[in-house]
Amino acid sequence: MAGSSSGLRGNRWWRSSVGRVLAGVTTVTAVAAVLVAAPGADAAAGTLGAAAAQSGRYFGTAIAAGKLSNSAYTTLAAREFTMVTPENEMKPDATEPNQNQFTFSAGDQVYNWAISHGAQVRGHTLAWHAQQPGWMQSMGGSSLRNAMINHIQKVMAHYQGKLAYWDVVNEAFNEDGSRRSSNLQSTGNDWIEVAFKTARAADPSTKLCYNDYNIDNWSYAKTQGVYNMVRDFKSRGVPIDCVGLQAHFTGGSSVPGNLQTTISSFAALGVDVALTEVDVTNASTSQYAALTQACVNVARCVGITVWGVRDSDSWRSGESPLLFDGNGNKKAAYNSVLNVLNSGGTTTTPTTTPTGTTTPTTPTTTPGGGSCTASLSAGQSWSDRYNLNVSVSGSSSWTVTMTVPSPAKIIATWNVNATWPSSQVMVATPNGSGNNFGVTIQHNGNRNWPSVSCSTS
Ligand code: XIL
Repeated sequence: MAGSSSGLRGNRWWRSSVGRVLAGVTTVTAVAAVLVAAPGADAAAGTLGAAAAQSGRYFGTAIAAGKLSNSAYTTLAAREFTMVTPENEMKPDATEPNQNQFTFSAGDQVYNWAISHGAQVRGHTLAWHAQQPGWMQSMGGSSLRNAMINHIQKVMAHYQGKLAYWDVVNEAFNEDGSRRSSNLQSTGNDWIEVAFKTARAADPSTKLCYNDYNIDNWSYAKTQGVYNMVRDFKSRGVPIDCVGLQAHFTGGSSVPGNLQTTISSFAALGVDVALTEVDVTNASTSQYAALTQACVNVARCVGITVWGVRDSDSWRSGESPLLFDGNGNKKAAYNSVLNVLNSGGTTTTPTTTPTGTTTPTTPTTTPGGGSCTASLSAGQSWSDRYNLNVSVSGSSSWTVTMTVPSPAKIIATWNVNATWPSSQVMVATPNGSGNNFGVTIQHNGNRNWPSVSCSTS
């Protein structure tokens, strides 16, 4: 079986590296214990985030600032998810309640919570016909066009360099594939490309997405309308990096059989694709499995975000559409998603082709002051980033300090609680998932592995 042979390869590589780097460890027994505890490259992951990370993908959720004081909610969200979309906090009515007066407190709350738990953030959304502040709703013409440009510039400046993706434009199409009429549309058909050009200039570091619902079925007119726009943008050099399929399979819609064709067709235009707001009526296990499979089968499908944590958090809670029930218990759909991520993820091509030059240097293993040891082993790698597995032995109440060499950054963690004394330093403690955890590091040109130390305090 392919899985076990690559697992063996992983272990052989790991064993010879460890032989070199564990010279400082005092007893042979300690070394043997580390080797037994080392996860195989293909070990099944126990959380959504960890399982998706095996193939370089994220698994995200929508987070509401108002729920961050609820520890049942935050514990679950921190454990499972590696991408966060603020459910309402970065929308125009939230960020610019009065014209040219910006407020970022709720958006910052969600952002800070996410990065302090090792998750990345998807900004949502800059230009949309809905959830506009009152002053904008009554505007039109060139004053609205200018207000849209100013809004994009100011909001993106605030989050400059911080967000992985921005939904620049949301829901601009009708079901028949034509443009939705709105005050924004009435400013001229070019409003969408103006929004994207403005966004690129405001923050060149973030990926710019078009996001919509009912664009999952390849033969549906709306899907074709959006596809034609993205193709046109790509052919004319209008900056667009990604398409988000909201994937609300609630309110009467369900996963189409040709979802993978839709994802791969968008991807073939040269954009990342993501499922951005997934929910499914009564959390059908087969539909959740199918949508997950459709994503992991396409190299450029970068991740899946479900629209809320527990059923009780859903905007369509009456349809119980999420992966956890109101008490935070995993539902059957959770297991179906996890199984697909664990079985399909490792066989797909990552979003960018791995190259030999990304191989990090020799792992560092530092016995700490207490009686525990943290060991690093290589996970998947891509041109811009790599995964490391961290295996702790000697104690189950450990604290691992990881220091990443600048300008590299840890962009995701799984199976661990993380705090960040500084941008280069992460202090990790167990989160109940055992003694193995993982990190994704964006190397930014420095491919040296981080140093780690372990203490039992
Ligand atoms: C929803 C939120 O979940 C609700 O809390 C809010 O009242 C309305 O908006 N498409 C989108 C999301 O892009 O922003 C919407 O979120 C759901 C549909």
